[in-house]
Amino acid sequence: MNAVAELSRTQALKALTTDTHDQLDKRIMANKPFANRDNYARFLIAQYGFLRDCDPLYDNPDLAALFPDLAERRRYDRIAADITDLERSLPEHDTLPALEHTQDIPTALGWMYVTEGSKLGAAILLKMAASLGLSEEFGARHLAGAPEGRAKNWREFVAVLDGITLSATEETRAVAGAKAAFTRMNNHLDQVY
Ligand code: HEM
Repeated sequence: MNAVAELSRTQALKALTTDTHDQLDKRIMANKPFANRDNYARFLIAQYGFLRDCDPLYDNPDLAALFPDLAERRRYDRIAADITDLERSLPEHDTLPALEHTQDIPTALGWMYVTEGSKLGAAILLKMAASLGLSEEFGARHLAGAPEGRAKNWREFVAVLDGITLSATEETRAVAGAKAAFTRMNNHLDQVY
């Protein structure tokens, strides 16, 4: 039994993607997203692409059966409003080909882990966005925490994610889904940096 097998599913996903996350974090910060609004807009366009990719997950009835508050978790409308706040136009859908969301549920769970987990780091980004006059009401709406608080919102997500029974093959697909989601975010960053 390896060390990862001792962990909860969420802890294992974190352990298996920490290096990727750290590289992503460093890549974003190296491009100084909060130095000025033009830089922020570049970051926003990449985030937009990723959240647009993730958006169909929030309409998936099989996921809604697992996560009762699924619909409230979506951020597409908020990031679209952020782009409008900054007087930028929404990127064309063919900037990167839209994903076909014909994913099986285990793969989709890996994607959900990444998009929901990214709300944790968003707390730090929201604070930094304040230096540009941006807030959860203007330009940085998609970085806002849930009304009940980020920690509680995340704990509730994790409780469901960790409680789902998956076979070993499905578990592997969930990990692959999480890795694919991080890769996709990097692909969006390739378009703006
Ligand atoms: C500069 C940008 C970013 C910074 C500074 C950052 C920072 C952080 C921090 C500090 C946490 C841990 C928060 C906590 O434990 O309370 C976190 C969690 C997480 N972030 Fe990021 N993040 C960034 C971008 C992203 C992006 C773009 C994604 C995905 C597209 C992402 C995905 C995640 C995930 C999945 C977690 C949850 C890890 C867990 O299982 O606990 N992050 N981030």
